[in-house]
Amino acid sequence: MEENPFREADLSLRNHPESCILVIFGATGDLTHRKLIPALYNLAADGDLPAGLRVVGVARREKSDEEFRKGLEELNKEVSRQGHNDDLWARFSQNISYHTSEFSDHEGYLALKTRLDEMEAEGASPNRLYYLASAPEFFDDILLHLRQSGLNHAENGWCRAVVEKPFGTDLATAQHLNEVVNDTFAEEHTYRIDHYLGKETAQNIMVLRFANQLFEVLWNNRFIDHVQITCAEHLGMEGGRGGYYDKSGALRDMVQNHLLQLLSLVAMEPPADLSADGVRDEKVKVLKCLRPFRHVDDVAANVVRAQYTSGTVNGTEVPGYRREDRVNPGSMTESYVALKIMIDNWRWAGVPFYMRMGKRLPRKGTEISIHFKDAPKVLFNAAPGSEAMPGNVLVIRIQPNEGISLGIRSKRPGPAATLQAVKMDFLYQTSFGKGSPEAYERLLLDAMAGDATLFARKDEVETAWHYVDQIEDAWHQSAHPPKMAEYPAGSWGPKEADELLNQSGHEWRRL
Ligand code: BG6
Repeated sequence: MEENPFREADLSLRNHPESCILVIFGATGDLTHRKLIPALYNLAADGDLPAGLRVVGVARREKSDEEFRKGLEELNKEVSRQGHNDDLWARFSQNISYHTSEFSDHEGYLALKTRLDEMEAEGASPNRLYYLASAPEFFDDILLHLRQSGLNHAENGWCRAVVEKPFGTDLATAQHLNEVVNDTFAEEHTYRIDHYLGKETAQNIMVLRFANQLFEVLWNNRFIDHVQITCAEHLGMEGGRGGYYDKSGALRDMVQNHLLQLLSLVAMEPPADLSADGVRDEKVKVLKCLRPFRHVDDVAANVVRAQYTSGTVNGTEVPGYRREDRVNPGSMTESYVALKIMIDNWRWAGVPFYMRMGKRLPRKGTEISIHFKDAPKVLFNAAPGSEAMPGNVLVIRIQPNEGISLGIRSKRPGPAATLQAVKMDFLYQTSFGKGSPEAYERLLLDAMAGDATLFARKDEVETAWHYVDQIEDAWHQSAHPPKMAEYPAGSWGPKEADELLNQSGHEWRRL
C-alpha cells in the first residue's frame, strides 16, 4: 500500500530530548524525592539524560545545596530501580542545586532569575523546564510570579511548564487553572502530567490496536461484549495521605484522570497521525461521547461509591476509612468507586465499560480486560467442560507483571473433545528481558523533547471534569444522594459493585 506522504515517517525522530535547566517547585516534597529525582537518576544510569542537564530545586525551607542533595540521595538509595551507585550519584548530583524561596515572594523569583542567568552564562542550556510539583494551592502564585518576573520567556531557548495533578478539583477550578497556566505559558508549552500515560503498558494500547490487524477489526460492538478497567490498591491512608485524600476521594483522585485516560486509549478511533494533537483529538472525542447523567437516579443506578470498614490486608489488621489518620470521622468521601459507563458512538453503542478503583483491596494491580462476545452456540457448546467457561478475554496488565494475555478455549489432550480455558501470554519481562522504566522517566524526556502526546490537553481535562462533576453533584448537592456502601478492608469491594454488573449478566474478572 502507498504511504501517505504527509504523515510523519520516522517516529524515532520525535523523541530528541534537549538539555535544559529543570526548575522544580516543591523540591522538598515526596514527589521530587520519590519520583522525579530517581527518574532522572535512572535515565542518567542508562545514558539517556541530555548532556549538561541542570536541576534547581525551589522550596521554602532553608537548605544548602549539599543538604538538599543528601536528602535526595537517601531516598534514591531506597527507590531507584537501577540500584544506587555512589560514583554515578556523585557525577549526577553535582548538577543539582537548591534555591530557597517562598512561592509568593517576588524577590525570590528575581533571585532565581539571576541565578538561572548566571548558570546560562557559565555554559548551562538556555532552555527552561519549570515543574510544578508543589501542593496545588501554590500553582496560582507560582505561575503568576513566573510571569511577573519574566521567567516564562527565555532569550535564547524555550520555556515549558509541567503541571502535576490534581489539575483542579472540579470543572470550574480546572478552567481557572487553565486560564492562569495559559496566561503564563502557551498551550503548546504546557504539559499536564498524568503519570498513567507514561506507563509502558498504557502506551502499548495504541500499538496493540493500531499496529496489529488482528485486534482492531474486532474492536467494536459487533464483537466485544463489555470492557472492564480495574485499578486496585492495597494501601490505605498511610503517611498522612488522608489529609489530601479525604478532600478528594476515589472519583476525583483516580477516575477523572488516570482511568478515563485508559478508557480513552481503549475506545478512541485511529488518529489521523501520531502527532500530539492527532492523538489527543481522538481521546477527547471519546470523552465527549460518554453518556451523561441527567438525574441523581442515573448516578444511583450506574455508580457505586463505598468506604472500607476495618479488616485485614496482607495479614495485617487495619482500621476502617473513617478511623484513618487525618480523615474526618464523619467523612462522606469514597475510598472505592465502581461505574458503568456507556459510550454513545457508533463503535461502542451498547457496550458497557465497567470501571472500579479502590483503596485497601487485597492487592495492587491495574488491568484492562476486553470481553469478547461468545462464539455461536453450535458444535462445541455441549462438550464436557464448556459449561460456564469464560469466552475470549484479552487482558492488558498495566501493572504489575506488565503484559497482555488472551484467553481462548482449547481441546484438552485425549480421545474426548473436552474443552479447557487456556491463555496465550506475553510478559514484558520475558520478551524484553527487563522490566519497564518508570512512567516519570519517559514523561520527563518527552517534556524535554517537546512532545506532548502523553500529556493531557486542556479540553481533555475539562471534558473529564465535566463528566465527573455530574456524579459529584449527585453525591454532594442533591437532597437525596445515592447511598455510601461499605466493604471490609482486604475484600474486593462492596456487594453493590457486584450487583452493578450482575444486572447485565456480567461479573468482575478476578485479578
Ligand atoms: C496517584 C493517586 O495519582 O496515583 C494515588 O493520587 C494513587 O492515590 C496513585 O495511589 C497510583 O499510582 P500507581 O502508579 O502506583 O498506580
